Amino acid sequence: MSLVIGVISQKGGVGKSTLSRLIACNYALSEWLVKIADMDLAQGTCTSWNRRRLQNGKEPKVAVEQFMNVGDALKTGEQYDLLVFDGAPHSTRKTLDIARASNMVILPTGVSLDDLEPTIRLAHELKKNGIKTEKICIALTRAGNSEVELEEGKEYVRASGYHLLDGVIHEKTAIRRASDEGKCATETPFKSINKKVDVLVQAIVNRADELQ
Ligand SMILES: Nc1ncnc2c1ncn2[C@@H]1O[C@H](COP(=O)(O)OP(=O)(O)OP(=O)(O)O)[C@@H](O)[C@H]1O
Ligand SMILES: [Mg+2]
Repeated sequence: MSLVIGVISQKGGVGKSTLSRLIACNYALSEWLVKIADMDLAQGTCTSWNRRRLQNGKEPKVAVEQFMNVGDALKTGEQYDLLVFDGAPHSTRKTLDIARASNMVILPTGVSLDDLEPTIRLAHELKKNGIKTEKICIALTRAGNSEVELEEGKEYVRASGYHLLDGVIHEKTAIRRASDEGKCATETPFKSINKKVDVLVQAIVNRADELQ
């Protein structure tokens, strides 16, 4: 495996699964062999999503498998170029295991303080547990319509000292509808949305390159 990316947060519903699918599909588009390790056994979000992707015959294909623990995922992932961990919420122990196993950890967050505060708290927690600061990246997902709110959110992350990824995912019905069809956030019918989300994808690819 040449690359392991962990997508984690303690909070539920901030966009971990949406971001995991986005990363997986876009690397697969560049002909990487990609597997998502779905660590959320209770919800199996990526697993169900991939069933819909297969049923709709959507290319490129990505593999998704559910795992109870990080070690098992790493073993089975050996044949893949990229392993993406889609973390479960409220899972302190596994979250840290994912961070340790990953070349890069991405913490997706909304732009409200309700989301930002626990995100930065988790980043501090990871750091305290020996995760290198440069590995920890913050992605703004689920942004609303307000530019002011978005700018304040960016400023909050910058002030924390962690790496803020360029680009942002705005809250869009089309992104939810794409997921319903087994597609990712750059596979909506709207070029303008796809193009905006692609800025975040490129930032992730660039950062992953730097970290390797
Ligand atoms: N940018 C977006 N626009 C519209 N809907 C979104 C967006 N991002 C996520 N959603 C929707 O919000 C819900 C939560 O997103 P997602 O499942 O990606 O979060 P999560 O962090 O994986 O949640 P959990 O903690 O429950 O695993 C889903 O219904 C998803 O379709
Ligand atoms: Mg999820």
